[in-house]
Amino acid sequence: MTMQPPTPEWSPERWRSRVAEVLARARGRSQLLTDAVDDDDLVRQHSPLMSPLVWDLAHVGNQEELWLVRDVGGRTPVRQDIDQLYDAFQHPRADRPSLPLLGPAGARSYLREVRAKVLDVLEHSPLEGRRLLDQAFAFGMVAQHEQQHDETMLATHQLRAGAAVLDAPDPLPPASLPAAEVLVPGGPFTMGTSTEPWALDNERPGHVVQVEPFFIDTAAVTNGAYLAFIDAGGYDEPAWWSAAGWAHRQEAALTAPRFWQQEGDTWWRVRFGVREPVPPSEPVMHVSFHEAQAYCAWAGRRLPTEAEWEKAARWDPATGRSRRYPWGDADPEPEHANLGQRHLRPAGAGAYPRGASPLGVHQLIGDVWEWTSSDFGGYPGFTAFPYPEYSLVFFGSEYKVLRGGSFGSDPVAVRGTFRNWDYPIRRQIFAGFRSARDPVPEEVG
Ligand SMILES: [Fe+2]
Repeated sequence: MTMQPPTPEWSPERWRSRVAEVLARARGRSQLLTDAVDDDDLVRQHSPLMSPLVWDLAHVGNQEELWLVRDVGGRTPVRQDIDQLYDAFQHPRADRPSLPLLGPAGARSYLREVRAKVLDVLEHSPLEGRRLLDQAFAFGMVAQHEQQHDETMLATHQLRAGAAVLDAPDPLPPASLPAAEVLVPGGPFTMGTSTEPWALDNERPGHVVQVEPFFIDTAAVTNGAYLAFIDAGGYDEPAWWSAAGWAHRQEAALTAPRFWQQEGDTWWRVRFGVREPVPPSEPVMHVSFHEAQAYCAWAGRRLPTEAEWEKAARWDPATGRSRRYPWGDADPEPEHANLGQRHLRPAGAGAYPRGASPLGVHQLIGDVWEWTSSDFGGYPGFTAFPYPEYSLVFFGSEYKVLRGGSFGSDPVAVRGTFRNWDYPIRRQIFAGFRSARDPVPEEVG
């Protein structure tokens, strides 16, 4: 069965049932990730890069209270006294363990109380008349927010020491691909969206972008390909690295992707508490932007720009229009992409032929986030909504854009237009990359 895309013509009842479904799915995931460990594990900080899991949990409830109980619902606050504890802008992650946070039991009962009120608000809200209400936008934003924290909590699990507590079946096996790279013709395409109901401010508005022809990898760069870069001494050759990348490689003493260890001739990795040989056909992940860029330089290639990535993912040469997803406009189903933490690893190249783009680019959605060469910024005509702290305050050259979502991202929080951003040194996220290149003249004759 294929899920039809939401449309502005949907009845309020249809929006309500979709909201109830996505909120319940997000909560189920939050519970699974926090019930999997004991209270001591929940309050502990597993890495200075991350919050204690119990902070994420109550923060999810607090954002839900702020937007849906108070703003949309106009209801009395549940716990106004804790707002500042869970304001991500007031306390950097490293400081959060020392705050007087709600404990595990308190956080769980707070979430239950907020959710009960939200379901009542959902039933009684008109879902029109204000931009925050139109097409249930605020509810969709809150469900995406919880799912984003569920992916963050999954990254905390990856950083946690100790025995494995999460388990999931393996994804589909890799399959052969017709070609290593795909030519994307030059010309205009529509980037971003003005119509996607739950697209966030940074994805808007839709606008036409001119893109020169380029080649892009059919699938993400694999562990096996990345190992060739390591074996060729790529981490010891400054010529492959940008100045900032080389400085960071030196300072952080990088020699391989995070969570990898070499023993004799074998490379091992730790994945959610399980130690296993590095699988050569899986996309490489836990590499920084700098490592991705150095690999591309060594391979005689480059990272795609964000516009190139999106054109490869969405542009349909038959109609000239941009799709919601590479496979079309229908919402993601399991046969399209490795999303939603159904599997706790990316799938090998070629595992999702039904998710390929019209030009034949595979696995753009799901598996691993993909670094692009672009800084995070606003599209022409950008307006901050519903608040500048969502995107605007992050615009600038400090952050690089990542696209496509990972195996840890929920379908509600990924689209062809969705933009993620992070510091170019970050490696704990489920990010890899694919490479691109300019054609030589005879290739585009
Ligand atoms: Fe947040």
